[in-house]
Amino acid sequence: MGNLKGRDLLSLADLQPQEIQDLLTLAQQLKSGAVQFDFQRKTLGLLFRKASTRTRVSFTVAMHQLGGHVIDLDPNVTQVSRGEPIEDTARVLDRYLDVLAIRTFEQAELETFAKHCKMPIINALSDLEHPCQVLADLLTVKENFGNLKGLTLTYLGDGNNMAHSLMIGCALVGMNVRIACPQDFAPDPAIVAQAKALAINSEVIVTDDPQLAAQAAQVLYTDVWASMGQESEAQDRIPIFQPYQLNAQLMKLADPDAIALHCLPAHRGEEITNDVIEGNQSKIWDEAENRLHAQKALLASVL
Ligand code: CP
Ligand code: NVA
Repeated sequence: MGNLKGRDLLSLADLQPQEIQDLLTLAQQLKSGAVQFDFQRKTLGLLFRKASTRTRVSFTVAMHQLGGHVIDLDPNVTQVSRGEPIEDTARVLDRYLDVLAIRTFEQAELETFAKHCKMPIINALSDLEHPCQVLADLLTVKENFGNLKGLTLTYLGDGNNMAHSLMIGCALVGMNVRIACPQDFAPDPAIVAQAKALAINSEVIVTDDPQLAAQAAQVLYTDVWASMGQESEAQDRIPIFQPYQLNAQLMKLADPDAIALHCLPAHRGEEITNDVIEGNQSKIWDEAENRLHAQKALLASVL
């Protein structure tokens, strides 16, 4: 784990394949109680420009369980929302904190922080990526299937942050990944190309055919149709995304042992049906719990 010390996690592609495997192993050891850490006097800052339940709470509890401390840097009660330059904020926070997790819109803001901070910067969700979520997702898949290599994950929905990090994450662990999305909501072509280049003997497929994408997959995954910041488009998106709903018919096309995942929060009846969330193939609550274990492993590794 020493090789991640001091490193940023802005994109899942910042990690080497073996580093992801090591993080997942450490997360499993932390979850079982086999290892413990003591990061007394280390402080994690949380700078979130968007709402969050899981990421905020799991990072806070993770740091607490590691023996450290957390400061909530709510932009509205710091000078951040009053326009203090990011470059200045970053250099000042770097003198106080040991690690900073940021949830924002632009990936470029994360990069600016990283450029002006020596401490590790963690992407706690941007419009481009959600790497911490995918570490928890891969942990959940590994718990269910024992291994990752050769499995197929099908993501249904908007080709944005979750699709991007899932493509990169699956590619790095040797999983096949299929993104099924409406043609106008396809993932960033640069990230598709990046995932294809990273893929270890595995496929990266983008299609507008949800039935084809779901065939024999071991993991069916979905996310909201309108992400944070896109609320005004929500109603217009419903008919466009309806064919991509994760429902019982689609689950039947997948591997009989397939699991259903969703990063949450979910809109039941839109991107996922209630029977799938509550059904016995759903591992969504384990997935949410695994945010804690995966981020504990990440914090322990970068600190
Ligand atoms: N999945 C996820 O990141 O949830 P929150 O928005 O509640 O943090
Ligand atoms: N795509 C969603 C993920 C939330 C965890 C969003 O960006 O709002």
